[in-house]
Amino acid sequence: MKPVALVTGAARGIGRGIAFALARGGFDLALLDLARDAEAEATLAGVADLGAQAMFVAADIADLDAGRAAIAAAWEATGGFDCLVNNAGVSVARRGDMLEVTPEGFDRVLGVNLRGTFFLTQDVARRMIATPARGHPRSVVTISSSNAEIASPERAEYCLSKSALGMMTRLLAVRLAGEGIMAYDVRPGLIRTDMTRASKPKYDRMLAEGFTPIARWGEPDDVGRAVAMLARGDLPFVTGEAIHVDGGMHIHRY
Ligand code: NAI
Repeated sequence: MKPVALVTGAARGIGRGIAFALARGGFDLALLDLARDAEAEATLAGVADLGAQAMFVAADIADLDAGRAAIAAAWEATGGFDCLVNNAGVSVARRGDMLEVTPEGFDRVLGVNLRGTFFLTQDVARRMIATPARGHPRSVVTISSSNAEIASPERAEYCLSKSALGMMTRLLAVRLAGEGIMAYDVRPGLIRTDMTRASKPKYDRMLAEGFTPIARWGEPDDVGRAVAMLARGDLPFVTGEAIHVDGGMHIHRY
């Protein structure tokens, strides 16, 4: 029986790249996103072409009841997951001075990126612990961001949510290692997706001026490859670690 991974936010962008890389790596998949739209269908078709069995569940992970129901349905349909990939996330609605952040904007970003992700993970971890391992490595891989460390004061609530996810991975690593479940934090830098489209001209300029040692945009597949390596269990004595998939952006230079 193939290992199974559930990927949140899998309809497009990095989530799709992760789904494709896992399908190439021999996983069957449960894909979660807000709605089964044309983007979701494209991901489903792509993973099927790569030989994976895949099912889709719709939920807004900020709605904890909806998230729980989607996980229950996906768990039932697949027989359980060996890997959870926490990828769903939102950026700020509008960039701006951190001194102008509103409670509503703060709650929206934290509600998806941190609260939704935390409680979905709690649910999946409980299910994993209650189910004997099936001979595959088990893990929770969370997509945080280079903003887990790098301060962007025009996106304060996003940075706060992502840095907290870094701690979530370390907490999970400590709590779950004894259960044979590893926890990893993957930190993408500039990845070419819908999320970064609006700021593309600015980032194009920064890349041309040497912003990252590897002078190009990252692609969803760059992140997918890192996740697939971790989910396959290629680093069995590593947990709680953050892997930067950012072309070296995080390296302090002068
Ligand atoms: P995207 O906006 O292109 O795709 C995000 C996906 O997540 C969409 O399919 C969306 O429908 C889904 N989603 C959003 N909110 C959801 C919710 N409440 N419940 C369920 N699904 C939801 O974004 P992208 O670029 O693919 O980002 C994926 C993850 O990677 C996010 O967590 C993001 O913060 C993170 N990231 C992205 C970077 C980039 O440069 N694109 C850099 C660093 C981190």
